[in-house]
Amino acid sequence: MAGFTRRTFLKMSAALGAAGGLIPVDRLFAGPAGGIEKGAPVVISTWKHGIAANDAAWNVLSSGGTVLDAVEAGVQVPEADPGVRSVGYGGLPDEACRVTLDACIMGPDGNCGSTAFVEGYKHPISIARRVMEDTDHVMIVGLGAEEFARRVGYKREDLLTEEARKAWVKWKSGLSSRDDWFPGGEKNHDTIGMVALDAAGDLAGACTTSGLAFKIHGRVGDSPIIGAGMYVDNGVGAAAAPGRGEAVIKTCGSFLVVENMRRGMSPEKACRAALERIFENHGGKVDFQVGYIAVNKKGEIGAFSLTEGFSYALARDGTNELIESGHLR
Ligand code: GLY
Repeated sequence: MAGFTRRTFLKMSAALGAAGGLIPVDRLFAGPAGGIEKGAPVVISTWKHGIAANDAAWNVLSSGGTVLDAVEAGVQVPEADPGVRSVGYGGLPDEACRVTLDACIMGPDGNCGSTAFVEGYKHPISIARRVMEDTDHVMIVGLGAEEFARRVGYKREDLLTEEARKAWVKWKSGLSSRDDWFPGGEKNHDTIGMVALDAAGDLAGACTTSGLAFKIHGRVGDSPIIGAGMYVDNGVGAAAAPGRGEAVIKTCGSFLVVENMRRGMSPEKACRAALERIFENHGGKVDFQVGYIAVNKKGEIGAFSLTEGFSYALARDGTNELIESGHLR
């Protein structure tokens, strides 16, 4: 499996320490009493591409970066990877063969930023962060977001890869007048959501996606919506959601997971209860996937999904591994 091992992490920390000014590994992991505190820091993100994303986030944490820097750097990895067909560059286009991206970010101070329906910029997560930090707005979308990205200095690029274009041509050529809006689009829900807790006990989260494949032009999912695709309460915990965005929006999914933790549920129980809400709302009939990942203030983590097949990447204690979640149905 890709990703770092305890040995490579320790080697890296020693090298960074030798470079000067960085947090030594014993302090990075030190709890209040100076001993090793299991579970802190921790980075958790969705799907297989979460492994490389966790590596990047962990590198930021281990070199003294903030938890907000860590989640931004983490999700930038699948955003830039043309092999990931559900996020950023290489993401599958909408029905008009245009790649439109959604993202949001939230930090320990409760500040947050978001962008949606944005074309031509590889890192919507960084646009979301600039919205959060450079403006007093939360969300800037569409042409306004593209103009904002240009003004803050980001470079416009063509994000449609040849592989994604061919997938669109195949989808388009298979359409008939009897098809509804999303033939073939349902399986493309591999959004990256990431939540992290640093050694100081601060939480942050990020979520970024190209959304449903072949969606109606202009459709925005849950990923850029604070409280739906991702939510952070620095006193309680953080959660993020991949999967069918409409179901997550209708239940304020990530906010609900965090509120469940506030009421005393473990992260896994909190995820499960939020999925039961979706299940109930759909009269017990679900033909789509939603997964949740969560971390609480103590560094306990949990994940759950509606149906089988959801995996998440967990980095802690010098390991980074892909784990299959439990599922409702
Ligand atoms: N969760 C991603 C989307 O529905 O767009």
